[in-house]
Amino acid sequence: NWSMQNVLDDQLRRVQSQVGPHAHAICALSGGVDSAVAAALVHRVLGDRLHCVFVDHGLLRYKERERVCEMFSKHLHLSVTIMDRSEQMLARLVGVTDPEAKRKAIGAEFIKAFQDFRDELMQQQEIKPAFLTQGTLYPDVIESCPPPGSGRTHSHTIKSHHNVGGLPKDLQFELIEPLKELFKDEVRQLGRLLDVPEDFIRRHPFPGPGLAVRILGDVTIENKLDELREVDEIFIESIREFGLYDKIWQAFAVFLPIRSVGVQGDQRTLSHVIALRAVTSMDGMTADWYPFEPKFLQTVSSRICNKVRNVNRVVYDVTSKPPGTIEWE
Ligand code: XMP
Repeated sequence: NWSMQNVLDDQLRRVQSQVGPHAHAICALSGGVDSAVAAALVHRVLGDRLHCVFVDHGLLRYKERERVCEMFSKHLHLSVTIMDRSEQMLARLVGVTDPEAKRKAIGAEFIKAFQDFRDELMQQQEIKPAFLTQGTLYPDVIESCPPPGSGRTHSHTIKSHHNVGGLPKDLQFELIEPLKELFKDEVRQLGRLLDVPEDFIRRHPFPGPGLAVRILGDVTIENKLDELREVDEIFIESIREFGLYDKIWQAFAVFLPIRSVGVQGDQRTLSHVIALRAVTSMDGMTADWYPFEPKFLQTVSSRICNKVRNVNRVVYDVTSKPPGTIEWE
């Protein structure tokens, strides 16, 4: 695709002139396509001067850390430091129920992790990175902090994406954001030009704040995170089994803060309710709920209720965006 090749060449030149011949940069990889493509692009220019970090914030999906690390080392040849911040992150989230407060707390812990990563580079390798690479896309910018002239102001902010507008003044990083003018499908095209493996490119998006925005209310109590991981894995594996993964923009499970009455065996139960969501979309800005066949919903629902302890009800979200957003928080 000639126009994407132009975009790539232009961005490589821009990164080159922004960073210069000697400076170092860090990049936080999320496991998603955006940060992987941003890292691959910046890596073309900086090589060993790019230092990647993957922060395990304790809000990842089932086996996500292992899966993502294998993809980075096998296919992308990026040197990646793994930071386990799950304890610190979950400690910050105790008692936090408001969606925006959750996002802010997670954003703050991410910043702290970057700072610590930079300090480690300085202490152990005497490298002082001046730049931070981020896979910010155009829709992230619009929805988090509407650009001047767009007719929307800050009071119209829909969600604070943790990777936009949340950097404190004293962070002392200059941002490299090579995808800032692109939509997701363009990022995928760019990734192919950069030899990012197809498995990575086709991955459904996963939000930076992770499962925290898929557990309504306090994420730290009971065993919610593990329960949601189990349900999510069953849902996604079933979607793959039915050959539907590539037809769907994004699919996931949501943990609801309620209990419902059920009957399992001859026992009355009062257990958790899980909502499933799957949408089609071009760019994440608008979305339609995915019309699964009844057979699929029936299979998934019985798999979940049979396998996951404490879940006795599964509901399917039939809301488009707008009026719903894709994530529930
Ligand atoms: P919403 O829920 O706003 O989601 O309709 C649109 C797309 O953005 C993803 N999303 C995020 N991605 N950081 C991210 O990197 C975030 O804070 C964030 N919040 C939502 C969401 O998964 C969907 O693909």
